[in-house]
Amino acid sequence: MARILDPQGTLMDTLVQSGRIELRRARLQFEQADGTPFTAIDGVDLTIEPGEFVSVIGPSGCGKSTVLNVLAGFSKLDEGTATLDGAAIEKPGPERGVVFQQYSLFPWMTVRRNVEFGLRMKRMPVSKRETIARGLLGIAGLLAFENHYPDQLSGGMKQRVGIVRALAASPRVLLMDEPFGALDAQTRAVMQEVLTNMWQRLRTSVLFITHDIDEAVFLSDRIYVMTARPGRIKCVVPVNLPRPRTPEITASPEYVALVQRLRSLIRAESLQAMGGELAAGLAGIGMDVGPAGVEELF
Ligand SMILES: Nc1ncnc2c1ncn2[C@@H]1O[C@H](COP(=O)(O)OP(=O)(O)OP(=O)(O)O)[C@@H](O)[C@H]1O
Ligand SMILES: [Mg+2]
Repeated sequence: MARILDPQGTLMDTLVQSGRIELRRARLQFEQADGTPFTAIDGVDLTIEPGEFVSVIGPSGCGKSTVLNVLAGFSKLDEGTATLDGAAIEKPGPERGVVFQQYSLFPWMTVRRNVEFGLRMKRMPVSKRETIARGLLGIAGLLAFENHYPDQLSGGMKQRVGIVRALAASPRVLLMDEPFGALDAQTRAVMQEVLTNMWQRLRTSVLFITHDIDEAVFLSDRIYVMTARPGRIKCVVPVNLPRPRTPEITASPEYVALVQRLRSLIRAESLQAMGGELAAGLAGIGMDVGPAGVEELF
């Protein structure tokens, strides 16, 4: 069961099962400066069930944003398929909301006008879009700021408005690329709680890209771990922690064990990705370091 905004702008339960993402044998190449192709992702299979919260983690440069850009419709695959509810993803669309690390609010519009923007484009009547915007701002704890302008808000508040704006269009899936990457640790922790609460109420399918293992475990139903160069799926880890997720959960043995397991998986990948460069760099300063030596450094 999913929870959506009905035409009157009130939250209601629905039996409609939508928001299923499928990526099959996905391969995408970029052209390098010297004209040779570079394979960013290869053979990537990824599924998000309707209403599921799925994270993707992996070392820097492994192709996480590439996966998200394909699902958002910003990039095209060279091989394989990307579908939403069985329909091929070919270009950006309102059924897929996107939130990036950089805030993308219109500085000349108030918070509420920013949230209403997509609904105005859909020619939704004023009273209806106001109800939806105010309802979602309320859930995000931002109603008191509806008439503020973005430059009057903190970074965390701006990002909350960005998420609310993406949700206002009732997307079937929310695609988030390191949305809290620019925030300090305290704000980030609060934002994770806000997001998990909002998701619990709305049950939109979510693809969440992060390099923060704790964040992925705290938020997700399942976590895809990617390998470095070319990006492939190394493994999929289910997160069977109870919901609602609260900060106390991070002290549970299950949480701690999961974080540790993921940390060692990522560490192995990061070492592999950086190993060659590290060895070359150290050899350059007169140190004789083979793979075992690099391992010693960590
Ligand atoms: N437009 C582009 N042209 C050429 N190469 C690109 C382009 N975009 C990405 N790449 C390369 O593709 C690989 C995957 O990039 P991507 O941005 O998906 O990685 P990422 O996992 O999101 O990294 P990060 O954690 O640093 O954000 C990288 O090696 C990157 O240099
Ligand atoms: Mg990225």
